[in-house]
Amino acid sequence: MTIRLLIILALLVAAPAACRRAPTAQPENPAKVAGRAASMMPPDPRLAGLYRASCQNCHGHPESGAPPAGYHFAWDKRWAQGLKILLSHTVGGYNGMPAGGQCFACTEADYASLIRFMAARPANAN
Ligand code: HEC
Repeated sequence: MTIRLLIILALLVAAPAACRRAPTAQPENPAKVAGRAASMMPPDPRLAGLYRASCQNCHGHPESGAPPAGYHFAWDKRWAQGLKILLSHTVGGYNGMPAGGQCFACTEADYASLIRFMAARPANAN
């Protein structure tokens, strides 16, 4: 009897943990989003230079309508399209996003790194 009770208790404790999914990003306070977007900078000096001269002008300022750097809530659905689509939207333009992101020195690898940085993904994420 006691063992059966223990098994039931163990299942009750374990089941919710097994069902738990990766947390979905929630909207955040606009001032927090803006502060973080304005202060983020890629650690690599060359990328930082490219970022400062182009992407940051919009993605560092949420009021521009661009998805703010570091804001998971704005980026997660976009990221779900896959890096290939995001790259094609960056190179070819997408609504208010100008073709090439106003970066004339950026290579495709630079774009991929800049997108990962803004979407807060690891350096080799696809
Ligand atoms: C002049 C402003 C501006 C600049 C500069 C800019 N962007 Fe954007 N970007 C936008 C806007 C606005 C959007 C949102 C477009 C939409 O979803 O309607 C956007 C969206 C994006 C997206 C998401 C596209 C999608 O499919 O959801 C990516 C990726 C992106 N930008 C990358 C970059 C990169 C990389 C740079 C710098 C090299 C850059 N952007 C520079 C304004 C800008």
